[in-house]
Amino acid sequence: MGKNKLQKFSDMEGFSHVFQYTFSTLRQLSQPFEYKGRWNEFFGNDNPIVLELGCGRGEYTVALAKMYPEKNFIGVDIKGARMWAGAKDSFQAGMKNVAFIRTNIEIISEFFAKDEVSEIWLTFPDPQMKKVSKRLTSTRFMDLYQQFVRPGGVIHLKTDSNFMFRYTEEMVKSNNYEVLFKNDDLYHSDFSDDKILSIKTFYEQQWLERGLTIKYIKFIMNPKSAFVEPDVEIEYDSYRSYNRSKRSGKDSNKKEGVDMNENMKNVQQLVKTRLAALNWKIEPLELYDPIAYVLSLGGKRIRPVTALLACQLFSDDLEKAMNQALALEVFHNFTLLHDDIMDKADLRRGMPTVHKKWNDNAAILSGDAMLIKAYQLLAKCESAVLKPILDVFSETSVGVCEGQQYDMEFETREIVTLPEYIEMIRLKTAVLLAGSMKIGAICGGASEKDADLLYKFGIGIGIAFQIKDDILDVYGDTAKFGKAIGGDICCNKKTYLLITALDKADADKKSELQSWLHKTQFDKAEKIAAVTEIYNTLNVREAAEKAMRSYYDEAISMLRQVSVSEDKKVDLYHLAETLLYRED
Ligand code: IPE
Ligand code: IPE
Ligand code: MG
Ligand code: MG
Ligand code: MG
Repeated sequence: MGKNKLQKFSDMEGFSHVFQYTFSTLRQLSQPFEYKGRWNEFFGNDNPIVLELGCGRGEYTVALAKMYPEKNFIGVDIKGARMWAGAKDSFQAGMKNVAFIRTNIEIISEFFAKDEVSEIWLTFPDPQMKKVSKRLTSTRFMDLYQQFVRPGGVIHLKTDSNFMFRYTEEMVKSNNYEVLFKNDDLYHSDFSDDKILSIKTFYEQQWLERGLTIKYIKFIMNPKSAFVEPDVEIEYDSYRSYNRSKRSGKDSNKKEGVDMNENMKNVQQLVKTRLAALNWKIEPLELYDPIAYVLSLGGKRIRPVTALLACQLFSDDLEKAMNQALALEVFHNFTLLHDDIMDKADLRRGMPTVHKKWNDNAAILSGDAMLIKAYQLLAKCESAVLKPILDVFSETSVGVCEGQQYDMEFETREIVTLPEYIEMIRLKTAVLLAGSMKIGAICGGASEKDADLLYKFGIGIGIAFQIKDDILDVYGDTAKFGKAIGGDICCNKKTYLLITALDKADADKKSELQSWLHKTQFDKAEKIAAVTEIYNTLNVREAAEKAMRSYYDEAISMLRQVSVSEDKKVDLYHLAETLLYRED
């Protein structure tokens, strides 16, 4: 293969048309990327800009650039050693309409200003069958592209994956994008002579040799204020043996970029292990069994994980916040025991709730014991932080009670406004996430200012998290969500969806919706279907998603201000983002 990686990296540093900014290095810049909004100065003309995301060796970018000298092409990928090939070829050929950015595609919007890009090529991206948020044609990425693709801009996808192709077709359909062309077997159709489509990348050649068909779809990405993630089951591709994993972000992150997951995975594992080590085999078993049960069912454990990540911003010693992290998870599970009685919920984490498996009294009393155990764990700390963390915790817990009170009261209230709803979820959900961050930060030795910023970050994330919970309660999949779908509809919970629906509906729809709210006897499935249908016609899901994203953005701006280097915050940024795209 000739040059080794180190030599390639050193070549890359010398290329003036290559920009290397990984997630963490970009965050360290004090100003925006130098050519953001000024790429015309870099290229020396106003020609349209075309991106290739996941450009690998860059041969497609270079080939397109040769074919279309009147356009400018930028290849984007995180793998520098591969990109080197295209970078070197275009450099040696003296091409003026080619550039490369080595970065994480997730942050691509940092490099371009509004309307600066005309087209995007996605060439053989990893279909990310299990992780929609990482899929390059998911609505999450459409939202990202929209920030810099001009209205009427075009997206091209070439793929060997039936899953990816089908998913993209569905995404295009559910968002009403205009399809310009599609074909599910490119090289066995008339289109195979097309000038552009005849460029075969290194990988494409491999797929073809293995007898796979190549699929292509091209569509116009007109601006949207809200996106609809397609809700369809698509059969997974059966072949997995073509070393595709080598092309995925994970592998590349490890070697050349920041590994965004490794540390977080360790922290998650640590929390899991330490929670499992808590001993509940004590008398009376009837009191402690339900506790052991609910904790054994898993869950995302985001409160202890965020507490530890917040601590880690200020100290490498996670033990400083470990007991407090456990306390927060035990407390959270206590709220679930009581909440499931209040909400008449039968399913939690895919299993019967405690009050269903035992009875209401068991859920009440075991819950009470959990609250006390949480305080005991919390108090196992250095005496200097005891008072501040007890104060945060007590304020948090009483906040949750206040939120739960409003939540119950709103079920029977005729009119609840959006600000009242936001205040209710701030209390019932966000303060605990915020308190977790603040407690972790305090244990790690944060300044008061930073601890408060992290609290505010937690509030924003927590509000977004609860709006997402409301959405999943209607549009989720029980198998993943672990709770029965439609529970909120049955209880007349004043969720973001319901409040927006009541607000948007015309007189007829409103009275239809209200008649369902007033029914005391109804068939659950019928009510869920009818109310969901009303939500669908009024597009309330999109409105909720938009609100969720805006709270998330607000949260991120708080995290930005925390006075530690940006590369230390990578896990918290990442975690916050995954919560938006969660399905459980
Ligand atoms: C459920 O919390 C209660 C809400 C605040 C929506 P989680 O969604 O964090 O539940 P688990 O712990 O992962 O099961
Ligand atoms: C969560 O509200 C608030 C607390 C558990 C304190 P939900 O009632 O929406 O939570 P889930 O959906 O049952 O988990
Ligand atoms: Mg509830
Ligand atoms: Mg509930
Ligand atoms: Mg809920």
